[in-house]
Amino acid sequence: MHAILEQLEARRQAARLGGGQGRIDAQHARGKLTARERIEMLLDHHSFEEFHMFVQHRCVDFGMDQGEKIPGDGVVTGWGTINGRVVYVFAKDFTVFGGSLSETHAAKINKIQDMALKNRAPIIGLFDAGGARIQEGVAALGGYGEVFQRNVLASGVIPQISVIMGPCAGGDVYSPAMTDFIFMVRDTSYMFVTGPDVVKTVTNETVTAEELGGASVHTTKSSIADRAYDNDVEALLQMRRLIDFLPESNTDEVPEWPSFDDPERVDLSLDTLIPDNPNKPYDVKELILKMVDEGDFFEIQGAHARNIVTGFARIEGRTVGIVANQPMVLAGVLDADASRKGARFVRFCDCFNIPIVTLVDVPGFLPGTAQEYGGLIKHGAKLLFAYAEATVPKVTIITRKAFGGAYDVMASKHLRGDVNLAWPTAQIAVMGAKGAVEIIFRADMKDPAKIAERTKEYEDRFLSPFVAAERGYIDEVIMPHSTRRRVARILAMLRHKQLENPWKKHDNIPL
Ligand code: HXC
Repeated sequence: MHAILEQLEARRQAARLGGGQGRIDAQHARGKLTARERIEMLLDHHSFEEFHMFVQHRCVDFGMDQGEKIPGDGVVTGWGTINGRVVYVFAKDFTVFGGSLSETHAAKINKIQDMALKNRAPIIGLFDAGGARIQEGVAALGGYGEVFQRNVLASGVIPQISVIMGPCAGGDVYSPAMTDFIFMVRDTSYMFVTGPDVVKTVTNETVTAEELGGASVHTTKSSIADRAYDNDVEALLQMRRLIDFLPESNTDEVPEWPSFDDPERVDLSLDTLIPDNPNKPYDVKELILKMVDEGDFFEIQGAHARNIVTGFARIEGRTVGIVANQPMVLAGVLDADASRKGARFVRFCDCFNIPIVTLVDVPGFLPGTAQEYGGLIKHGAKLLFAYAEATVPKVTIITRKAFGGAYDVMASKHLRGDVNLAWPTAQIAVMGAKGAVEIIFRADMKDPAKIAERTKEYEDRFLSPFVAAERGYIDEVIMPHSTRRRVARILAMLRHKQLENPWKKHDNIPL
């Protein structure tokens, strides 16, 4: 009996070595952890249960039947817990054929995808892999097709998270692209459909991997990645933090964690947050941090379209999604990028029953040919569509400007905002006073005294929250210092909100 047990342990040891000590050392030398080390770091201590450790590829082409068969076939799969809650996980093992995907490797991932969907728990993929295993040809492509199909079926049912932790190409970027969030590690991870060598051959462009698909490219320019971290350890620990914000599925409620931050807490400094000069910026993140539990805010897409801020926080221990115009960047204007960013985040929250708190200070949509040629109408419509279809609790606070179409878009009462509040500094109008007077009193333009009088008249009438409040578009005008208390009470009141959209196969959001 002992001998059998020892044999098992020996087989396990061999499997744990993946592509061998040499390749593990190379992985470490590049500043990367191995697949198993990553899983250990991600999950609660000793909670990982592995499946199919001994699976091997069945390829016989290109001498693959003569070569080494490595148990596990380049991916470590299983489940475990993060702070006690179940997650499914797969980690690509770069030491085995560069983590590339074979038919059997795909079947291992498919099993985990199926289990996560059936048992309604999040799935996290740790990617460090070169795409389809070239020696397997169509068998590998078919394998990817099976992974993609499952990504799509699980979308909106369970959270799917991808962490890019090495050079990733082909299917190892397309599968992440269909998941909810993508995170990268700076300087060691890259994402591209084809690598620099192929780019050189096809387009004659010379680029480095970093220039083509490094973390800085994908968190700022392309917006493919939601956030980047300095190393594997930081990325994995932050994934634990993210999972704590998310429900396990679309039929689950948001998690509730103990909070030591009094929901009744007032913050007098908020009464002076808005500068006297309406054209002076302030940092909306200050309001976010002061409003939410313990100032804990997990920002999504913080380096892209910084004129809108999106991310997760908690109020009374329960997750909320925050969407806020950022006056510090482009005066908080809505442009194409900000609209797309906001829309995707709102839709994620709506999929997973996460209430949305919207902080509004927006001078409108950004005018100009660059925006119009770039499809501002369609991208702006995405945000409008996302807010309008969302059935989760929606609480809106207008802190200052809510001008033009952007007023409607930003979770207004007309888009089924449940409770719409305004600070006394709110200005709700079709546009700012100067622009408005120049248009409606064009005949008076040559008379500065008259223009000043008209401007004052317009400001008094429209640049306050009270015209909107008179019509019932604003439920209440509140003291800034009481924002946290108000929002906490409203969210508690809305906790069992039930609202359904008409039956449809799915909507046709302007993609
Ligand atoms: C088989 C692969 C492989 C692959 C890497 N390897 N990619 N083996 N199939 N796709 C192996 C290498 O042969 C090498 O083996 C080991 O992994 C490490 O690779 P290196 O090239 O030495 O590493 P590095 O220089 O860091 O470069 C990593 C890389 C590069 C950028 C990922 O290997 C690369 O460009 N690979 C090919 C990417 C690609 O074009 N894949 C197909 C995509 S098509 P040894 O034995 O030397 O250690 C696809 C279709 C999906 O995925 C459908 C999409 C819609």
